[in-house]
Amino acid sequence: MKLLDLPRRIYTEFATPLEPMPRLSKALGGPEIWIKRDDQLGLAGGGNKTRKLEYVMAEALAAGAKAVMTVGAVQSNHCRLTLAAARREGLKCYLVVEERVQGSYSREASGNNFLFHLLGAERLFVSPFGADIKQSIAKARAAVKQETGAEPWFIPGGASNPLGATGYAAAVLELLGQCQQRQLAFDDIVVASGSGGTHGGLLAGKALFNWPGRILGISTRHPESVQAAHIAGLARETLAFLESDAAIPDAWVSVGDEWVGPGYSIPDASTLEAVNLFASEEGILLDPTYTGKTAAGLIGMIRRGDFSADDKVLFWHTGGWPALFAYGKDFPPNRPSASV
Ligand SMILES: Cc1ncc(COP(=O)(O)O)c(C=O)c1O
Repeated sequence: MKLLDLPRRIYTEFATPLEPMPRLSKALGGPEIWIKRDDQLGLAGGGNKTRKLEYVMAEALAAGAKAVMTVGAVQSNHCRLTLAAARREGLKCYLVVEERVQGSYSREASGNNFLFHLLGAERLFVSPFGADIKQSIAKARAAVKQETGAEPWFIPGGASNPLGATGYAAAVLELLGQCQQRQLAFDDIVVASGSGGTHGGLLAGKALFNWPGRILGISTRHPESVQAAHIAGLARETLAFLESDAAIPDAWVSVGDEWVGPGYSIPDASTLEAVNLFASEEGILLDPTYTGKTAAGLIGMIRRGDFSADDKVLFWHTGGWPALFAYGKDFPPNRPSASV
């Protein structure tokens, strides 16, 4: 197995915390819910892309890249973290920002967009709503090549190729070490399923390390059938890339699409409830695009009776809280305040 031989940059010096959430478990009437705090990974603001970028940036550096380019939505955590990793490595970074929701791009927006400017993106290429994103990327690459004489090293959206997904196959090993130390065994992991490197990588890790539990992906954009096929493909490609002959049966690939709501990055009542509940019960920040919907999935599955009261369920926090600051209108002030 190639996993331990791959070149890797280290952007987090520790295993992310594994914490019980007793107040949330109580508020929901069980099961026993734990959280894996990948919101505390390294680079600017943490989040799941940090694990993927440890491998993906090592590849770019080995290839002699001087500049990288990547693509994401207008509030992309992946763009923020790729940019932060590039800064750390002394590379230039170009971003292609895709307006997936009509009218959602604003140069002045807060949240991650603000950080794209603060962290010093070389240029933002905006792909307007309705444009073909592949063509926008091709145009952006050509523009940089014409200007600088060299194409930037291209990192795919979400760093969700087999190399990036390897970050989450390795994360299973980290989790199993923590579980062994504490004599803990989880029945289920609940995790966001977007561009797929996280969900697919965890499935590859499950196969590599024989973890017996279920991995329940919550789709943040696509319908179940589309997402499940994508995840199965990426998980299997990741195993092949790691030169493992372990298998991933179709039955392992679970995707819930009931919590996408009105569409990608648009919160509904269940998203807002989840963000508010995690904050008020456990002091944990979620984002409305990924972890809020995933937490809504966890809450929905509990209410539907998908878990038994003594199950141990791990909510894998994938970060994204910097995007919260672009959603102030969805969370109007609701606490008393007074002048004194
Ligand atoms: C905070 C957060 N969680 C989850 C995801 C989804 O992860 P993946 O793209 O690996 O499916 C993303 C993707 O951008 C994200 O930013």
